[in-house]
Amino acid sequence: MVEVPRNFRLLEELEAGEKGTGSNQNVSVGLRDTSDIYFHFWNGTIVGPPSTTFEYRILSLEIYCDESYPKVPPHIRFLSKVNLPCVDPDGTVNRSKFLLFKNWDRRTTMETCLSELRKEMASPANRKLPQPPEGSVY
Ligand SMILES: *[C@@H]1O[C@H](CO)[C@@H](O)[C@H](O)[C@H]1NC(C)=O
Ligand SMILES: *[C@@H]1O[C@H](CO)[C@@H](O)[C@H](O)[C@H]1NC(C)=O
Ligand SMILES: *[C@@H]1O[C@H](CO)[C@@H](O)[C@H](O)[C@H]1NC(C)=O
Repeated sequence: MVEVPRNFRLLEELEAGEKGTGSNQNVSVGLRDTSDIYFHFWNGTIVGPPSTTFEYRILSLEIYCDESYPKVPPHIRFLSKVNLPCVDPDGTVNRSKFLLFKNWDRRTTMETCLSELRKEMASPANRKLPQPPEGSVY
């Protein structure tokens, strides 16, 4: 199998994010700073799923893609405070608790990571978890 080089892959993710061609309008991913030529730092947002305690919230995240991405998962941290089992007390998505990270496949994009986190919020076990006040940050 031919492996797509890191920068080419991240360029594709950048273009998908800018054009909004991603399949899910409820999450977004973009470079934090357009001068970041190494594609390290990204901003993410998730729109809280309806009929959950996350409803109407725009949740901000920061994503760091190190040189090993996409061989290894990106580092994802919530900036907006959330109460979710796979999120550590400092907002970091815990590598051993988030199923998608545990069973990592290098074809998985950042957008898919955020979609899966959104699914976590809507899961029967998590949808009614009490949440910190809206707008609070780590
Ligand atoms: C976005 O979320 C809404 C509400 O959950 C859902 O109806 C819609 O299908 C979602 N859109 C996509 C593209 O996933
Ligand atoms: C990314 O997020 C940071 C911090 O929240 C913000 O200062 C910056 O303007 C954002 N970048 C873009 C391109 O929206
Ligand atoms: C991540 O989850 C593991 C397994 O539950 C736990 O042992 C570890 O302390 C967590 N990491 C952090 C930084 O909280």
